[in-house]
Amino acid sequence: MVKVSPDINDKEIMKISEVLLDNEIEATIISNTSDTTRENLQNNQSHQKGGLSGKPIESKSSELIRKFYKVLKGRIKIIGVGGVDSGRSAYQKFLAGADYLQLYTGMVFRGPNIVSLIKKELKQMLLKDGVKNFNEIVGKKD
Ligand SMILES: Cc1cc2nc3c(=O)[nH]c(=O)nc-3n(C[C@H](O)[C@H](O)[C@H](O)COP(=O)(O)O)c2cc1C
Repeated sequence: MVKVSPDINDKEIMKISEVLLDNEIEATIISNTSDTTRENLQNNQSHQKGGLSGKPIESKSSELIRKFYKVLKGRIKIIGVGGVDSGRSAYQKFLAGADYLQLYTGMVFRGPNIVSLIKKELKQMLLKDGVKNFNEIVGKKD
């Protein structure tokens, strides 16, 4: 599997996708932490160095997943990661094109039971929307 940075441009997405396909990579993990958008941080620790994770990168990673999905078209599995901490954020990642999810920062805020919580929340959302199979939602966000 290959993990990618969220701080890449459209040209780099195309190039990386080409390499993934040429080398028959099994899956790509999208995304790692980000070194941009620090100006939006409000915490008094915002001056500290280091990649951002969690909420500050949630939409950025979802957008990157969406772009990769459009190019890869399901030929390579996508593991979506970046700010997943609830049924809603998990749903967004699947809509963007993720086949699986990974999380790290969410566990800090919601504790080790977070996966059970997300599954419960996601199940309610899927039932409400009448979704019977994940194939109905993966990559459905334009
Ligand atoms: C403290 C910390 C250490 C991390 N170390 C690594 C690492 O060694 N290798 C890696 O690929 N990603 C690393 N990551 C990135 C996470 O695996 C993940 O891609 C990123 O945090 C976005 O997910 P999240 O919002 O659920 O945390 C680290 C993230 C954090 C917060």
